[in-house]
Amino acid sequence: MVHFQETLKRWYLTNKRELPWRKTRDPYKIWLSEVILQQTRVEQGKSYYLKFTKAFPTVADLAAASEQEVLSLWQGLGYYSRARNLHKAAIHIEKDLRGGFPKDYKSLLRLPGVGPYTAAAIASFSYDEATAVVDGNVFRVLSRLYDISTAINSSKGAREFRDLSQGLISITDPATHNQAIMELGALVCIPQSPRCHICPFTIECKSLKKGTVTSRPVKIKKVKVRNRYFVYTVYYNQESQLLFLNKRTEKEIWQNLFDFKLQELKDEKSFLKTAQRKSTQYKTTTTTHKLSHQHISALFILKPTTKEKSIGGMTPIKLHELKKIPLPTLIKNYIEKETAIAHSF
Ligand code: ADE
Repeated sequence: MVHFQETLKRWYLTNKRELPWRKTRDPYKIWLSEVILQQTRVEQGKSYYLKFTKAFPTVADLAAASEQEVLSLWQGLGYYSRARNLHKAAIHIEKDLRGGFPKDYKSLLRLPGVGPYTAAAIASFSYDEATAVVDGNVFRVLSRLYDISTAINSSKGAREFRDLSQGLISITDPATHNQAIMELGALVCIPQSPRCHICPFTIECKSLKKGTVTSRPVKIKKVKVRNRYFVYTVYYNQESQLLFLNKRTEKEIWQNLFDFKLQELKDEKSFLKTAQRKSTQYKTTTTTHKLSHQHISALFILKPTTKEKSIGGMTPIKLHELKKIPLPTLIKNYIEKETAIAHSF
């Protein structure tokens, strides 16, 4: 794209916001601002930045602080491991690097909590290293400008956008270039109702021409997997060839299918403890079962019984009648594999 760098820079110099971290090239302060801005919006970020730089004007001051002091200043920003990493990295710089702040992208990346984005931001803003920042703003601007439909959260997308933005960066003024492309994303090329009428790239923008602006960038919806821990008590009357099954009724997985007496545990720790404890007294089996949104860890405890009638509201089912009963795969697999039961078919 011709004149991309020049047009972007000119737009930035006349439209940029005055922000406190734009007045410094101190890598420590830039780093602080970028870590804070990963947690909050610019307006709220300002007051945290001013609080932090006042309390800890240098990396040595931050390193000398207690973790508790750092965490209390961070209060309200959430994701407290970021604050702990900030503190840890400051101590590392003071102790192991003798106060020498890392001076390039590669060594910045080695700091705890510093990823490609933060390393590129510090390297370019403080040291004029020509490494392109790729954040949410940059993804949005470039995906629209070039009408790219590759998902930004796929590994192919990560490579494609990194290479594209690295190819566009100004070698002569990478600091301004990086600030400018993010500022364009923050002020003009915004997620909802982008302000295309005031954009300096209306002629060049491919997605504006094609009408795909609102569907860029493309992001794959990653399903959130929920881990669940099921403890099944399997009442089995060997003499009468009876299994006691429970008809599931709740609006939940496997509605109207049959399973065993179920207790759901809240975490892996209690699940493993229960499995250990029960295995000393009963025949137990553990297995895992993957559904699209849920990963189930299941413990089956085989309890022999002489009962013939209902136990705790469950229905006694003859083994030879099992094939007429709808069973979740997890349960079916267990019954087929549990030799004590399967051998009686
Ligand atoms: N968001 C992340 N980094 C930023 C910066 N340097 N200026 C404005 N907004 C930002």
